Amino acid sequence: MPGGPEEAYERVRPIFESVAAKVNGDPCVTWLGPGSAGHFVKMVHNGIEYAVMQLIAETYDLMKRGLGFNDDELHDIYCSWNNGELNGYLMEITSHIFSKADEKTGKRIVDEILDIAKQKGTGMWTSQSAMELQVPIPTIDLAVAMRDLSVFAKEREQAGAIYQRSQRRLTVDPDTFLSQLYSALFGAMIIIYAQGMALLAAASDKYKYDLDLGAVARIWRGGCIIRATLLEDIRAAFQVRRDLPNLLLDPSLSRKVMEHQEYLRQVVCRAAESGLPVPGLMVSLSYLDAYCSEWLPANLIQAQRDYFGAHTYERIDAKGTFHTEWEEE
Ligand code: 3PG
Repeated sequence: MPGGPEEAYERVRPIFESVAAKVNGDPCVTWLGPGSAGHFVKMVHNGIEYAVMQLIAETYDLMKRGLGFNDDELHDIYCSWNNGELNGYLMEITSHIFSKADEKTGKRIVDEILDIAKQKGTGMWTSQSAMELQVPIPTIDLAVAMRDLSVFAKEREQAGAIYQRSQRRLTVDPDTFLSQLYSALFGAMIIIYAQGMALLAAASDKYKYDLDLGAVARIWRGGCIIRATLLEDIRAAFQVRRDLPNLLLDPSLSRKVMEHQEYLRQVVCRAAESGLPVPGLMVSLSYLDAYCSEWLPANLIQAQRDYFGAHTYERIDAKGTFHTEWEEE
């Protein structure tokens, strides 16, 4: 994901293209833009990576604690998911993880690993940048927050003792639930990429990167952690409309999201009933619901701001800014 002076890139291009991963012979590298364009794209790549990992981890929890599946079953399910629309590097390594034995104990290594997720900071930088640019990327924010929450292991244990639940098993037909979960994950996956790409579009405007988001999707198809078959559709969406502000507005991707969103809703409902935490799936669904909402209750927030701070508001029936004296003398 190189950026910087274009003439400098031209000098190293043959080397980069020869070492880059290839998809159908096409090297997964290109000049992305001036200055920090390459670094910014790589940072957002990592933010998307955090979110994808969080969502996959939530599906693991639903299948492990919710359905009682063992590691062999999980291996098989992630393998089969990787053979469909959910195909990608993270899905592939997840399936391998569940079959790997621990040399020390002979048990599966995944079950011997402490449930505390570390981070080097790129997901957090993505969230910080998005806040600065005022672009909502809640699934990525949430993925960072969940790694942070995982660190509070002692507190989680204490809280678990206070807020005891009788059971976290899902009361569902496993086969039906599994197909809903597959759909839910695929729908949420599109939503994550939509958030990441929307951030790139805003950053491109603000920092004058002039990013070609179709080219970003093209080079992410191979040789990187978030490589996924879905990136073909994302690339196609930007080919149809280079200035697409959000992938959820693309006709073809929006059809897919509509197809899968009811299953996402079902899965979130079942998880909430059982007390299984699926904040990434939940926030992805809520982002979709809010993004599709012609009206939001932001008028009340404006009224509250004007009430306590005279911050003013705009009206639906007149131009300008207005203030109300909310309390009678
Ligand atoms: C990567 O290897 O893609 C990044 O460095 C992510 O690492 P992290 O999960 O430690 O932030």
